[in-house]
Amino acid sequence: MELERSGAGTWIPRRGTPPIARAEGCTLYDVEGGEWLDMTASFGVACLGHCDPAVVKAVQDQAAKVMASPIGLYTEARAELLGKLSQILPGDLNHVFLCNSGTEAIEAGIKFARLKNGRRGIVSLKGSFHGRTLGALSVTWNPKIRKPFEPILGDGAFASPGDIDQLNELITEETSIFIAEPVQGEGGVNVLDAEYLQAAERICREKGVVFMLDEIQTGFGRTGTMFAHSEMGLSPDLMAMAKGLGGGFPMGGLAYTPGIHEALSPGVHGSTFGGNPLACAVGSAVIDVLVEEDIPARAAKMGDLLRSKAAAALKDNPKVREIRGKGLMFGVDLREKSAKYLGALTAEHNVIALPAGQTVLRMLPALTVTEDEIDRAVAAIADVLS
Ligand SMILES: Cc1ncc(COP(=O)(O)O)c(C=O)c1O
Repeated sequence: MELERSGAGTWIPRRGTPPIARAEGCTLYDVEGGEWLDMTASFGVACLGHCDPAVVKAVQDQAAKVMASPIGLYTEARAELLGKLSQILPGDLNHVFLCNSGTEAIEAGIKFARLKNGRRGIVSLKGSFHGRTLGALSVTWNPKIRKPFEPILGDGAFASPGDIDQLNELITEETSIFIAEPVQGEGGVNVLDAEYLQAAERICREKGVVFMLDEIQTGFGRTGTMFAHSEMGLSPDLMAMAKGLGGGFPMGGLAYTPGIHEALSPGVHGSTFGGNPLACAVGSAVIDVLVEEDIPARAAKMGDLLRSKAAAALKDNPKVREIRGKGLMFGVDLREKSAKYLGALTAEHNVIALPAGQTVLRMLPALTVTEDEIDRAVAAIADVLS
C-alpha cells in the first residue's frame, strides 16, 4: 500500500477515493463498500462493462489451457482471434500484427511505413494523441506532453484539421506516413470531417504516402459502428487498434493491407507478449459479444440519448460552449478548464469522467451503459456545472 500511496510520480492520484476492490458493468466498488459510477470504462477499454461474464470466462478458461506460446508456433486461440478479426476488419485490411497496447500499434505503423516507402517524414494533426513512447510521441500534438522530450523523430509536421490546402503542402514526396484519429479523443472529442480525411487519403495516394488511421479509441463499436472510418468512405493502409479489443485486458493490434505486408520480412519487428493466447482468447470473446448483440448499434443509440439528455439538462448553461461526440464518445466543451468540475463529479457524486484537452469533460462509458446510468451521469454534470 505504501508504494501505491506514494505513486509513480507520473499521474495525480484522485484524492478521497479508497482503493477499488472489484467492478461490475459501470460500477466500481471500493474496499470500504463505496460505489462509483465509472463513465470512462477505464479509458474506454472495458467496452462490455467491467467483468463482463464472457470476458471473465475467456480469461479463466484460457488461463487453464495455455497462457504463453512461442510466436512462431500456431495457437488455437490466436487462429480463432485472427479468424474473427478477418470477419470484421473493413476493406483489404487482411493482415494483423498483434501487440499489447495502442502505442505499440502506432510504433509498428511508423516502422512499417518506413519499410514500405523508405521515407522519413511524418504528418499528423493538431489535437492528435497517438501515445507517449518516443515514436508515438512524435505524432502526438499536445506540446505539454511532447516538448520536454524533443528532438524526437524529427521530420514531423502537424496539420490543422479541415485545411486541405495546407495538408497538400505539408504532405510531400518525402513524407512516409500520414496518421489521424477519425474522432480525436484526448484532443477534445473532435469529430473529424469525412471530406477532409478523404482528401488526406487522396493526397497520400498521389504522393506515395502511407495513410494510417488510429482507431485505438474509436474502434470496436465505440462510435456506433465497428470502426469509425467505415462510414467515412476511407480505406487506410494501416489501422491501429487496442482498448476495446481486449475488453479490459491489455492488448493491441495493427491491421494492414497486402501492399504493406509485401514490404515486411521475418525479424523486422516483434513482441514477446504480442498475440499471447490469453489476450487472444479475450479478444475473441469481446468480438463475439459485439457482433452477436450488435453492440455498436446500441452504442449509437445510447450515445444519441446521452447527448440529447445532456443538451436538455445543460440548455442555456453559460459555462457550456458545446456538447459533441459520436456514439459513446461524449464531450462537454466548457468555456473554462474542466479539471475542477471533474473533481466535483468524483467528490460530490461518485461519478468518474475524464478530461480531453483543457476544457472538455469527456465520458467513454461501457457500450452496455444503461439509461438509468446515463440519467445519473447527466444529473451529476448538470449539478456540478450549475
Ligand atoms: C487515439 C489513441 N491513440 C493511442 C493511444 C495510446 O494507447 P495506449 O495507452 O494503449 O498505449 C491512446 C490512448 O489513450 C489513444 O486514445
